[in-house]
Amino acid sequence: MKDQLIIFDTTLRDGEQSPGASMTKDEKVRIAKSLERMRVDIIEAGFPIASIGDFESVQAVAKAVKDSRICGLARALDKDIDRAGEALKPANASRIHTFIATSPIHMQMKLRMQPDEVVENAVKAVKRARQYTDDVEFSPEDAGRSDLDFLCRVLEAVIDAGAKTLNIPDTVGYNLPHQFGELIKNLRESIPNSDKAIFSVHCHNDLGLAVANSLSAVMNGARQVECTINGLGERAGNASLEEVVMAVRTRQDMFDCDTRLDTTQILTASRLVSGITGFVVQPNKAIVGANAFAHESGIHQDGVLKNRETYEIMRAEDVGWNTNRMVLGKHSGRNAFRSRLKELGIELESEEDLNSAFTRFKELADKKHEVFDEDIQALVSDTLTEDNERIRLISMRVCSETGEIPVANVTLAVDDNEVKTEMKGSGPVDAAFKAIESMVQSHTELQLYSVSNITSGTDSQGEVSVRLEKGGRIVSGQGTDTDIVIASAKAYINALNKMLLPADRAHPQV
Ligand code: KIV
Ligand code: ZN
Repeated sequence: MKDQLIIFDTTLRDGEQSPGASMTKDEKVRIAKSLERMRVDIIEAGFPIASIGDFESVQAVAKAVKDSRICGLARALDKDIDRAGEALKPANASRIHTFIATSPIHMQMKLRMQPDEVVENAVKAVKRARQYTDDVEFSPEDAGRSDLDFLCRVLEAVIDAGAKTLNIPDTVGYNLPHQFGELIKNLRESIPNSDKAIFSVHCHNDLGLAVANSLSAVMNGARQVECTINGLGERAGNASLEEVVMAVRTRQDMFDCDTRLDTTQILTASRLVSGITGFVVQPNKAIVGANAFAHESGIHQDGVLKNRETYEIMRAEDVGWNTNRMVLGKHSGRNAFRSRLKELGIELESEEDLNSAFTRFKELADKKHEVFDEDIQALVSDTLTEDNERIRLISMRVCSETGEIPVANVTLAVDDNEVKTEMKGSGPVDAAFKAIESMVQSHTELQLYSVSNITSGTDSQGEVSVRLEKGGRIVSGQGTDTDIVIASAKAYINALNKMLLPADRAHPQV
């Protein structure tokens, strides 16, 4: 029997810390449900003390998910731990993850604490967290640049205080694989009570080594990996869940452990996260990129047709490609639509949401003959977000003609008041954005605008991502439509709505 490698997903916490990736409560619940379907062991749902919204999101995930353990992050502070304990109350199984920095630079410059005080605070935090749950994880932040002897001292003390998981973060992505593996081995061998805890790793990707470092740690005895869908996360991101899981699964000859994940759910989760956050997956991204299983050159194709193993080390269907691309059309009824939603794991809370999504499905099926799973995912995202937004697109007309300046006429509902205007622009999208901005007066800067197609073919829906900045705050918005100018307007409005939400959230590591 091989050991179990525990998969701890932090898309909703560390993933959300990347600028512009913030998610609403409903979006977090949808992602959490998709992780639960994938049989992820632990879902870090957020940092409850950050804001009321973050607290409610962790609570909502704890209520909605029953088969994965739900974790909340807390600094080594009483108020953080109490808030996490409170938010996790509805969970079937909960964990509190508490942390304090242990590297010289973090202790001196950020915490302004002496090493003794850090040990004292770490022990106190673990003991307090144990009052809420017997599953407590402790992280010495910036372990990758901490002194080994000091790390051993802190970790021994927190195990005695009741920590069951010791998570070793390479917070700034500084380590190299052999070095990080060695660190895990040294810690396990040097800490006298190390057999009482599970060693976990949490690697950042600043040097592109997050997955390699995580795997090296696993080879040296780590039995939990912290990771995110699509490698989303602070700066260059975290170790990507799909890469870690598929490396371990594909190279079972090299690992004495395996995960219990249903890998066929990987692609759906990847698309959901990228659709919600607007962080587009690059085509050559391992496992989930559009080209990951595409064979362009004739020589490769020939080899794959004769025997797929000539150029394929994994089966595309094992990670969710080419499975069940069930098509619905304009004659598909409500029941077919409802059961497809169910198969995709989409749960709409009210009959009203279902009606609204079904109306959109019919509109889409009228324009586009075949409606794919990806279209349905996007359509549900649009329905759930747009119905609750303060600014809504009512109608739009754009004229674009060779030799003429494009003009957009846009009608919006802003807090239920109808406003309309006409603006010119260098192109139809520019005209539409100018018209919207002139009515909303957001004074935001457009940082990124990108269009991609959801499925193939010119009748595909366009998926637009927009990133806006104002006073250092970054938000992103998404919109889909078969008309890319309308998709662009929806994305812009979605980002503006996010900018209107309260921004007073604490960052756990600053
Ligand atoms: O990168 C890091 O150190 C973290 C900790 C909070 C675990 O995210
Ligand atoms: Zn991190």
